Amino acid sequence: MNIVVIGQGAIGLLWYHHLVKTPENSVSLSCSASASSIPSHYHFTNIKNHSEEGLLTLANNASFANAELILLCVKSYQVKAAMEALNNKISTQAIIVFCHNGMGAYHDLAKIQQPCLALLTTHGCKIIRPFHAQHTGLGHHDLGVVTGNITLSMRDNISATLTQALPTLIFTEAIKDKQWLKLAINCVINPITAIENIDNGQLLDDRFRLLITALISEIIAVAADENINFDFNELQATILQVAKNTAENCSSMRSDILQQRKTEIDYINGYMVSLAKKAGLGVAQNEKLIRQIKALEV
Ligand code: PAF
Repeated sequence: MNIVVIGQGAIGLLWYHHLVKTPENSVSLSCSASASSIPSHYHFTNIKNHSEEGLLTLANNASFANAELILLCVKSYQVKAAMEALNNKISTQAIIVFCHNGMGAYHDLAKIQQPCLALLTTHGCKIIRPFHAQHTGLGHHDLGVVTGNITLSMRDNISATLTQALPTLIFTEAIKDKQWLKLAINCVINPITAIENIDNGQLLDDRFRLLITALISEIIAVAADENINFDFNELQATILQVAKNTAENCSSMRSDILQQRKTEIDYINGYMVSLAKKAGLGVAQNEKLIRQIKALEV
């Protein structure tokens, strides 16, 4: 497939590195304007801690015009601008895949002509230094349509291309449910680990029990208003299991705070609060976490 990966962050390089290895793919990388200088090569440290150097093929106008698949690997707060930059550059047949955390980043993009998919990942990957990513945890992908339609053969083609590059992947009709589950996990793990400056596993400590319980209750009420039904015990068990499975990990929001970057709080707990307001629901704990994160952001 002709593929453009947008974004040279951890997830962008993770996909670029794995997709270029398949000779049938023509892959290029589009880097953000914020990159001060773009090297000719990138580095990738794989799951076995083996480092490789690879050639960077940068996307040009022709790559965008011919792209069949565009992986948008930018932060949630960059999605709108990244989508606007694609205007008149890509074919109406191109398929856009959103790879960011959080929700609500593309709600005001109703005019998109291209079909859009969401790709949810549980892979761990981090940037060691610019253009050097490290794959820290093997995971799984869920892929599903969020707007527009794609043919069955295109869906199979995309699934096969992405699975071949980086297994495992499941195409799901229930992407909204999966996005909500990821959102719920991120609403709890990300802000608390960032505020407390702790690894994910420390969330299992008894001192967070009441806060986590209150947050989950708020999330369940907001989700129900969106016709997403969570069972309290199940959701709590899932969130704590993710914290356990990623015990040694530094959450993405904590990394953002530590590296003095803007966080995705507006599209995680902020999304929850905006829906709660529309529904007339109280979400005091989510609001408090947002205030605390904003105070830590520079
Ligand atoms: O954003 C993150 O860091 C991850 O989604 C998760 C699951 C919380 C693990 O760190």
